[in-house]
Amino acid sequence: MKIDILSLFPDMFTGVFQQSILKKAAESGIVSYQVTDFREFADNKHKRVDDYPYGGGAGMVLMPQPLFDAVAAIKRRSEGNPRVLLMTPQGERFTQKKAEELAKEKHLIIICGHYEGFDERVREHLATDELSIGDYVLTGGELAAMVIVDSVVRLLPGVLGNEESPATDSFSTGLLEHPQYTRPADFRGMKVPDVLLSGNHALIERWRKKESLRRTLERRPDLLENYPLDETEKALLEEIKKETSI
Ligand code: ADE
Repeated sequence: MKIDILSLFPDMFTGVFQQSILKKAAESGIVSYQVTDFREFADNKHKRVDDYPYGGGAGMVLMPQPLFDAVAAIKRRSEGNPRVLLMTPQGERFTQKKAEELAKEKHLIIICGHYEGFDERVREHLATDELSIGDYVLTGGELAAMVIVDSVVRLLPGVLGNEESPATDSFSTGLLEHPQYTRPADFRGMKVPDVLLSGNHALIERWRKKESLRRTLERRPDLLENYPLDETEKALLEEIKKETSI
C-alpha cells in the first residue's frame, strides 16, 4: 500500500513513521509513506494557502487550489485510483470497520488541515471520504491521520505476527458547521453560493443557520435530538424537510 499525506507540518510525521511496527512495515516493503507540504503547490507569490471566509466571520479557510493541485500531482503518478481522505471533525466517525475497508486499498491520500476549515469545494469535489477520529477538535488533522495510518497498516497482511494477529481484535453549538467558501468565487466551474457574495448579512446568517441544520439533520440526527431548537430553527428545519421530501 502507498500512503500519501498532505500537511503543512510534515515534520510531525517523522517520529511516528520511523518507529516500531509502522517502520518495520515500510522496511519490509508492505507500505510506503510520503509526506508532502501542500504549501509547495500554492500558485501565488507568497505561497499562501488560506484566505478569509466569504460572508465574513472569524478564522481562515484553506483555499482549494493548493490542495486540488497537490492531489492531482499525486494521482498522476498513481497506478490506481486512490481514495482521498479528508481529516475533519465533521467527518464520518472512524471505526475498525472503516480501517478494514481502507486496508483493502492500494493507495490512500490523506489531507490534513491545521487550525482552519477547508473550502467546501475540497469536501465536495476532492475528498472521497471525510473522517473524524472522535467528537473532539484537534489543532490539526495530523494526529488523526496518524491514528488512521496506524490502525490501517497493522491490518495489512504480514505486518503483525501470528500472536498479535488482527483476526482476534475486537461539540460547542450542538450543530455541525455550515459549508464554507473562500476565493475564488468560481473555481474551475465550481461556484460559491450567490447568497455569500450578496453582502446581505441577515440573509447570510439565515443561510448559514439553515445549512448548519441541514448538515446536522443529514449527518448527525442524534445531535438534533438533544438540541433545543428555537422558533426560527424549527421553521428552518420544516423548510429543509419539505425541500428534501420533494
Ligand atoms: N481535525 C481536527 N479535529 C479532528 C478530528 N477529531 N478528527 C479528524 N480530524 C480532525
